[in-house]
Amino acid sequence: MSELAVSWYQVQDWAVIWLPIIFMGLIAVVLVYTLRLMPRTKPQEIKPESSDSIGWSDGAGVEEAKDELREVVEFLRDPERFRKLGAKVPKGILLHGPPGTGKTLLAKAVAHESNAKFYAQSASSFVEMFAGLGASRIRRLFREARKAAPAIVFIDELDAVGATRGADISGEKDQTLNQLLVELDGFGGGEDLVVIAASNLLDKLDPALLRPGRFDRQIFVSPPDFEGRKHILGVHTRGKPLATDIDLDVVARQTSGLTGADLANICNEAAIFAGRAHRNVVQTVDFQAALERVVAGMQSRRVITDHERRVVAYHEAGHALCSQLLPSVEKVHRISIVPRGQALGYTLNLPEEDRYLKTQEELMDYLVVLLGGRVTESLIFGQITTGASDDLRKVHEISRSMVTDYGMATNLQSKQLPASDYSMADATRRLIDEEQQHIADEAYRRATRMVAGHRPLLEAFAARLLESEVLERADIERITAEYEGEFVPRLRLEPLAGTGNGRPKVAASERHEAGSA
Ligand SMILES: Nc1ncnc2c1ncn2[C@@H]1O[C@H](COP(=O)(O)OP(=O)(O)OP(=O)(O)O)[C@@H](O)[C@H]1O
Ligand SMILES: [Mg+2]
Repeated sequence: MSELAVSWYQVQDWAVIWLPIIFMGLIAVVLVYTLRLMPRTKPQEIKPESSDSIGWSDGAGVEEAKDELREVVEFLRDPERFRKLGAKVPKGILLHGPPGTGKTLLAKAVAHESNAKFYAQSASSFVEMFAGLGASRIRRLFREARKAAPAIVFIDELDAVGATRGADISGEKDQTLNQLLVELDGFGGGEDLVVIAASNLLDKLDPALLRPGRFDRQIFVSPPDFEGRKHILGVHTRGKPLATDIDLDVVARQTSGLTGADLANICNEAAIFAGRAHRNVVQTVDFQAALERVVAGMQSRRVITDHERRVVAYHEAGHALCSQLLPSVEKVHRISIVPRGQALGYTLNLPEEDRYLKTQEELMDYLVVLLGGRVTESLIFGQITTGASDDLRKVHEISRSMVTDYGMATNLQSKQLPASDYSMADATRRLIDEEQQHIADEAYRRATRMVAGHRPLLEAFAARLLESEVLERADIERITAEYEGEFVPRLRLEPLAGTGNGRPKVAASERHEAGSA
C-alpha cells in the first residue's frame, strides 16, 4: 500500500516536470509545420530575353511615363556616363493612375529594355499573418537585388503595404512598411539599385514613402487621349487581320475615357466576333459589336411584350430627341431597343472630342437628356415605369455633385459641402436637399417642354425604332434633318422661365388615345 503511494507521488513529480516540456515541444512542432505550409514567395527574377518580352513599342499613349523610364534604363545601361557628370541614379519611381492604364506593362517594358537584373514582387505577398514575415521578405528581396546590382526592383500594387501607418491594429503592416522605408534609404550609397512601384491610390500612401530620396519621382499614368487610343488600338490589332475599310480613327474617337485595358479588350472581342461569324478578317461591324458589348453588355435573350417594346422605344426616343436638340450634349451615336445586359434599350452618346471641363449649362442639359426618357413615358402613356431607375440615379448623383462639389447651386455657391462633414448644420443639409430638388425639377420642366414641343420628331424616332430596333448616327441625322426641313426655322431652346404654352394639354389629350391603343 505504501509502495503504491510512493510510486503515485513519483508519477506526479514526473508529470509536473515533463508534461509541460512535452506540451511545449508539441507546440513547437505544430508551429514549424504551419510555417512550412506558408506560401514560399521568392522574389521573381525576370530575364530580359524571356519569351513574352514586352518592349517600349507595346505600351502606347503613355509617352510621358515612357520618357521618364527610358532615362532610368539609359542610366543603368551606362552608369559611368552619368557618374562622370556627378549625377546620381534616381532612386524610386512611383507609377500611379487608374486601373488598366498600363503601369505593370511599363514595368515589364523596363525589365526587357534595360540590361540590369530585374526583380519583381507584388506587395500583397508581403502581407502575412505572422508578425515580421513581411519585413523579412522585403529584406530578402533587397538583399538579392543588391547582390546583383545594377538592378531594378519592381513592387506592384504598393497600396497593399504602403497605406498610412497607424491604421493596422496588429502592427504587422506597419512593420513591413517600416522595413521598406529603411531599405529604400539604403546605406552604402552609390549602389545602382532603382525601385519602381505601381499603385492606384496615391493619396492613401504613407507620406514617408513619397518624400524626396524615396519615391521622389511620381509619374501619373493617365487614361489615353485620342492619339494615344489610336496608338493602343494599333498595338493591339498588330497580329489581327483587319478588313481594308476599317478606320481605327473612328474607333478611337468612340472610346473616349476608356483605358488601355478596355481597348485591348475591345480589340480581342472584335476578333472573337469575327471568328464566331466565320470571317477571315475583322470588320468594322465586329468593332462596333465589341464596343457595344464592352459599353452596354452582351445582347440578352429576354422576351418582352409588345407594349413593353413600345414603352422602351418611346423612352429611348425621348433621350435621343433631347440629345439632338441640345447643342452642348454629346451626339447620339446609336439608339437601340435590343435588350442588352440589364438594360432593355439604350441610347449611346459619344463625345466628338476629349473634354476635361464641363459648364453648368452642359450639366443641366445632360440632366434634361437623362430625364427625357421618363418624361416621354409619362406624356405618351400617362404612366411611369421602373425603366428609368438608372437615369434617375444618375440625375441624383449629378445634381448632388452640382450642389455639393461644384458650387453650382443658387444659394450655395463658392464652397464645397462634403457629404460626410459632421459639422454641417441641419439647416445646411436641408438647403442642399432643396437646391438639389430645384435643379432636378428645373431639368424635368425643361425636358417636358422639349418633348411636348417636338412631338412629331419624337414620333418619327419611335416609329423608326419600332421598325428597325437600332438607329445609327446617319439615320438619326436624317430624321432630324427631315423634321427641321418641315419646321423651319429650327425650334430653338425655349427660355427657362414661363410655362403654359398649351403644349402639355395637347399631350394630355393624345395621351388618352395612346393609352387606349
Ligand atoms: N498604354 C497601353 N498600351 C498598350 N496596351 C495597354 C496600355 N495600357 C493597358 N494596356 C493593356 O491592358 C493590359 C493591362 O494593363 P496593366 O496590367 O499594365 O494595367 P495596370 O495599370 O497595371 O492596372 P492595375 O492598376 O489594375 O494593376 C495590358 O496587358 C495591355 O494589354
Ligand atoms: Mg498593375
